[in-house]
Amino acid sequence: GDVAVLVPAAGAGVRLGPGAPKALRLLGGEPLLVHAVRRIAAAPSVHTIVVAAPVAEVGAVRELLAPVAPVVVVPGGAERQASVAAALAVVPPGPQIVLVHDAARALTPPELVESVAAAVRAGDDAVIPVLPVVDTIKEVGADEVVLGTVDRSVLRAVQTPQGFRRAVLTAAHAATGDPLTDDAGLVEKQGVPVRCVPGSEYALKVTRPFDLALAEHLLATGH
Ligand code: CTP
Ligand code: MG
Repeated sequence: GDVAVLVPAAGAGVRLGPGAPKALRLLGGEPLLVHAVRRIAAAPSVHTIVVAAPVAEVGAVRELLAPVAPVVVVPGGAERQASVAAALAVVPPGPQIVLVHDAARALTPPELVESVAAAVRAGDDAVIPVLPVVDTIKEVGADEVVLGTVDRSVLRAVQTPQGFRRAVLTAAHAATGDPLTDDAGLVEKQGVPVRCVPGSEYALKVTRPFDLALAEHLLATGH
């Protein structure tokens, strides 16, 4: 394999409600992070997996993942971007393609990991999986009065794994700036073109309780 996958898993999961850090919350009796890592490890191109865990759970996460796949576990940071940077810093020499994949997208199929990696291997410096936006999107003022309707046809909902030529991601993370919610955003700021490839409904991010219920259903029906 020529691919390293970084798995930011250090978030609290505030929007999911009270409980353990989100990556350790159970889906079908197993933590979200276990589901995510199992599917990443099933992708044939993957050589290295680095997980950024909640600081207080680093040891527990190592024990949890030992039977699942060989992984390196590091303490995460206060923002997602810092967690990704911490994981990127320990990728061993070798892999020239780096994917960044949210632990919260626990049911992401291995095929999506492969298709993103393949697009980088084929020559794109940065690749993101996307879906069309299905809802009408409106811009709204502070008073909750509509300012206008956005042209939905030019919008995409962005998922992970996001894939990068290693040197491109390293350079983007070395640049300073406000933390962003995805890694492609950092790369865009460097002026590097970012290619979209088809995403997957199964790569949904477990964010709110409704998403967890949907994920439970998908898992129970064979995903
Ligand atoms: N993440 C991380 N380090 C942080 C914040 C987030 O590694 N300091 C990870 C999360 O664990 C998750 C991914 O980034 O796998 C996407 O973040 P999000 O869905 O926002 O998860 P949380 O930050 O945990 O959720 P919330 O924002 O609701 O607290
Ligand atoms: Mg968050």
